[in-house]
Order: sequence, then structure tokens, then C-alpha cells
Amino acid sequence: MSSPAAVKGKCILLLVPPITYRATDFVDAAKRLELDVVIGSDGALPLGGNPVVRVDPNDLDGSVRRLLSAVGRVDAVVAVDSDMLPLAARLGAALGLAGNAPDAVAAAADKAMQRRLWAEAGIAQPGFRILSNDDIDGSRLGFPCVAKPVSLSASRGVLRADDKAALTAAVVEIRAILAESGHAQDEPILVEEYVPGWELSIDGLLTDGALAVTAVFDKPDTPDGPTFEETLLVTPSRLPAATLAAATSLAERAARALGLRHGPIHAELRIDERSGEPRPVMLELAARSIGGLCSRSLHFLDGTSLEMLILMNALGAGVELRPPRGASGVLMLPVERGGILQRIEGQTEARAVTGVTGLSITIPIGQTVRPLPQGDRYLGFIFAEGRDAGDVEAALRLAHGKLRAIIV
Ligand SMILES: Nc1ncnc2c1ncn2[C@@H]1O[C@H](COP(=O)(O)OP(=O)(O)OP(=O)(O)O)[C@@H](O)[C@H]1O
Ligand SMILES: [Mg+2]
Repeated sequence: MSSPAAVKGKCILLLVPPITYRATDFVDAAKRLELDVVIGSDGALPLGGNPVVRVDPNDLDGSVRRLLSAVGRVDAVVAVDSDMLPLAARLGAALGLAGNAPDAVAAAADKAMQRRLWAEAGIAQPGFRILSNDDIDGSRLGFPCVAKPVSLSASRGVLRADDKAALTAAVVEIRAILAESGHAQDEPILVEEYVPGWELSIDGLLTDGALAVTAVFDKPDTPDGPTFEETLLVTPSRLPAATLAAATSLAERAARALGLRHGPIHAELRIDERSGEPRPVMLELAARSIGGLCSRSLHFLDGTSLEMLILMNALGAGVELRPPRGASGVLMLPVERGGILQRIEGQTEARAVTGVTGLSITIPIGQTVRPLPQGDRYLGFIFAEGRDAGDVEAALRLAHGKLRAIIV
């Protein structure tokens, strides 16, 4: 791995949305790499005491002008979360830095556009229809299917439907979620063939379109709907090497088909075994790293964090990856019912479970919480390490069983 010393003293501009799990880890990574940091944000606190330039993700031209006049030399621009990707692409282009083209970033942020581009490129994916005028009869996909908005994340508004009545209800519910979240109410709704099978995510770094995998997480609790909570993630994957190689190659081709060539990607796939042969299919791909606090379950050589690797990659330093020893994982604590979070019992017992390395409760006590399909937050994260993936999974399940969220 090229050493962190190669980037010391370089200047990084971090674009930080006001609501994100990811800011602290990027700011810490920049500090550990001894980078000069400038933050562009529309509301984040002055993180780590670094200077902050105000930006507005809804006014890309104005924000690019303000950043160009406020900052001096910048060696790389990194969006710490999805909302800032369009601005990062525009600014990177204005500064002549290697980065993803604005069109590629826009394509990756739109689930319907992804499907269209992948269909053109022959990327394996579920059958799909883009509903216009919510015309369910025109969807012609059969059941079970999955309906989803094209612009949301965190599984919000993603609903399985097993018959026409359920699909009709899902479309009404998605419209309500879009209205509430301030998105265009008339955005298309995507209806996809429901693909059963083992789910995995692939995180990696692109350099000139070539993918270096940073982590493959299995999702042993792959949900089968009607909502799709993401809970357990365990790495390394227990899939056979040939299946993993096929999945990785598919993710790399899928990223290229969207026009992505630089920086982190987070791909989600299922292994479709309906034909008798394991066949990876793309669920989706984002031009960012894994969300939530999940990256804290990863440790690379000499304690290097995923965010350090992302910053080094953005600064053009070669990143050579070796698989970490042992296994690790994270369990995202789902919100099981709506109400006000009063307390979470059993935290001491959960932390004491062998293999558990951390527990972070990320929702303040007293806050109103909502389950899927509306909610977009987890109660917190449990982290574990172990000799192998089975140990890690068992530790996470045991710790989860010790916790009781009191929601009234
Ligand atoms: N066509 C499909 N077949 C089977 N399962 C699906 C399909 N589409 C989505 N899912 C399930 O729903 C989950 C969320 O869907 P998707 O990734 O499209 O939405 P998202 O809001 O981006 O989710 P997240 O932000 O949590 O990744 C997937 O991880 C998968 O478990
Ligand atoms: Mg997803």
C-alpha cells in the first residue's frame, strides 16, 4: 500500500451535508493523514475546527463560484455523503481534478436511469418497468414484484407486492413518502421483478474505471419483504470464490456502464439461483462508500480506515489492498415500531458479549422514531470481530438479543 506519508500536507475539500453519519470518520481520516482540510457545507458545524465555506446543494453554480473564490489550492474534492455528490462532481470538473463526470453521478443517483443504462449495457439485473402515471396494469411484470421511488435511499419506500392490490397500495404509500420528504411527487416509480436469493454488498475504489475491492459484506438476514430492513453485515463473504469473482466483475462493469470512473462505489447484489446456477444480479450501485457507521467495522493494514483509503485514492495515491485478517461485522439496529424512544436497555450486557467491539446508539433519547417504509434512521450499530464470519454473526445476534428499545 502506498504510505499515508505520500499525501501528507495536501489539501482536501470535504463536502459535508448537514445530516450524515459519515462526517466524523472523514474528518478523522484527514487528520490522521495530516491533510489540510476545508469543509463545504450547508449546515454542518465547523467540524474538527476546520474552516467552513457555506454551500447550497440546490444552487450548484453559485456554490461552485463561492468555493472557487474562497479556497486556494485544492488537491481533491470528496463528498462525504450522497447529497453532496453532484456538487463534488461540478467542482472537480471546474478545478480540472480527476473525478466522476456530473452526468455519471446523476445517473448513479437515479434508480430508473441505472436500470436503463444497465439494460443497454447488458448488465444482469431484475426485469423492470418505469411506471408512468402510476399505471399499474402497464407494469406487466407479474408477481411478486418490488415497487420503489427512484430517488430515495435507506430502503425508504421500497415495498414488495405479491398481487395487484398490494402494488396499488404500495404506489399510494410511495407517493405519500415522496410528498413528505420534499421530493417531486410526480417522479417515476420503479417496479421490478422480485429476485429471491443471498444478498451482498461490494465496496470498492475506482481508479480510471478499474475496481479495487475494499470489502464484501454478506447480509445473512436478507429480508424477503414487504419492507427491507438492512440489519446484519458480515465480512469476508462466505460465498464461493467463483461466485464472488463473478459478482465483483459485474459490479465493476455496472459502475462503468453508469460512466463512473473514480472514487468509492457501494454496490448491492443478489445471487439468483432460480435457474440452478448461481447468477449475480445488480440491485443498485451508489457513487459513495457504505452508509451509516458501517465502515467502522473495517480495519485495513496498520489500522488504516476506509475513509483514509478513500481520501488517498482521491489524492491520486495508489492504494494497494490486502484482505484484513479475521472477520468483522456490524448490526444496524432497526426501528421496530413508531413512537418516542425512551431508553435502550441491556447495553452493558450487549457490550460484554465476546467478540463485540462496540455499540453506538445514534438516536437521542426523547426523539420520535418511525419504522420502515417511512423511517430513514437506525437506532444504532453493534460492531463485532472474530476468527471467522460465523463467530461474528453469532456475536452480533447474541448482543442484539440483549438489547430492548423502549419506544412509547
Ligand atoms: N428487485 C428486487 N428483488 C429483491 N429484493 C429487492 C429488489 N429491490 C430491492 N430489494 C430489497 O430492498 C432493499 C432496498 O432496495 P434498494 O437498495 O433498491 O433501495 P435503497 O433505498 O437504496 O436501500 P439502501 O439505501 O438501504 O441500500 C435491497 O437491499 C433488497 O434487499
Ligand atoms: Mg440499496
